[in-house]
Amino acid sequence: MFDKKTVLTGVKPTGTPHLGNYLGAIKPAIDLGNRAENHYMFIADYHAINAEKDPLVLNQKIKEVACTYLALGLNPNHSVFYRQSDIPEITEITTILYAYTPKGFMNKAHAYKACVDKNREADKPDDDGINMGLYTYPTLMAADILSFDTDIVPVGKDQVQHVEIARDIAGAINAHYGKELLHLPEYYLAENVAIVPGVDGRKMSKSYGNIIPLFDDDKAIKKAVFSVVTDSRPMDEPKDPDSVMVYEIYKSIATPDQLKEMADGLREGRLGYGHVKNMLLDAIINEIKEPREKYNYYMAHFDEVESMLQEGASKARPVAQRTLKRLKDAVFGR
Ligand code: TRP
Repeated sequence: MFDKKTVLTGVKPTGTPHLGNYLGAIKPAIDLGNRAENHYMFIADYHAINAEKDPLVLNQKIKEVACTYLALGLNPNHSVFYRQSDIPEITEITTILYAYTPKGFMNKAHAYKACVDKNREADKPDDDGINMGLYTYPTLMAADILSFDTDIVPVGKDQVQHVEIARDIAGAINAHYGKELLHLPEYYLAENVAIVPGVDGRKMSKSYGNIIPLFDDDKAIKKAVFSVVTDSRPMDEPKDPDSVMVYEIYKSIATPDQLKEMADGLREGRLGYGHVKNMLLDAIINEIKEPREKYNYYMAHFDEVESMLQEGASKARPVAQRTLKRLKDAVFGR
């Protein structure tokens, strides 16, 4: 499905990821990119400034996200890996798209609506604290996508609407000029991606404080794994594996054989919570050992990452330049 296709993935620099981000989002995105004929992968740093105003914090987050993807298997020789702000054509294209973006689209975009809802709940004016960057963010995202003649944008549910907005804007422009100036993208909503539970059983999320870290040292990972909730049933009491949270987390990382071993041991009362936690810990450490070394290496040698990003930008720019030229020629009647 992805061979012969151009796939584009954008990531916001949100800081060091946890195990749930890795298994639920990062790994599938990298795998999919590797299968695509053309893969563009970029760090959405212009999107990030809408929320993050501290340059030092922002810079650190951008570094972390770049090193994370490289450490976890993004191949910069296959995927064109760049920073959004290194491609000025994207913002020029955004300006042209504005002229074809009904304001109503922005009013309806759910990221903006969610902020309005929050303000209403807090008895604040609707647009309190909302900047134009956030308000118009779907148009910039449309330019991210349309600049590269993208076929497919892999997304989570929350981003489907944004890809549809990109399609609608592109469709309006194509209809107006009577030719395919912009390629219409499709979203790809991955089915059955792992939703990894956190140590308390709710979805793993930084905001719940229930994460298992990814690039921390063994001690920190062990501490998190051993805090996964259990009950007081004794070891020799046969247990339904699905009633054991450690097993639920193990599902997203273990091989089928490993999983069966844990399930059998729980059912037969051979494995206690200490055992299964150690099994989970081993599986996690085994999975992240190499990426963690790579991550630490890249963070300490960011100049190497910087040159990869520059190289990515030098591959991406000519493509965006072509799209921009096509648009300007049509818009200005050249
Ligand atoms: N909006 C996306 C998010 O919040 C990030 C993003 C920006 C993006 N531009 C994109 C994703 C273009 C896909 C394509 O996660």
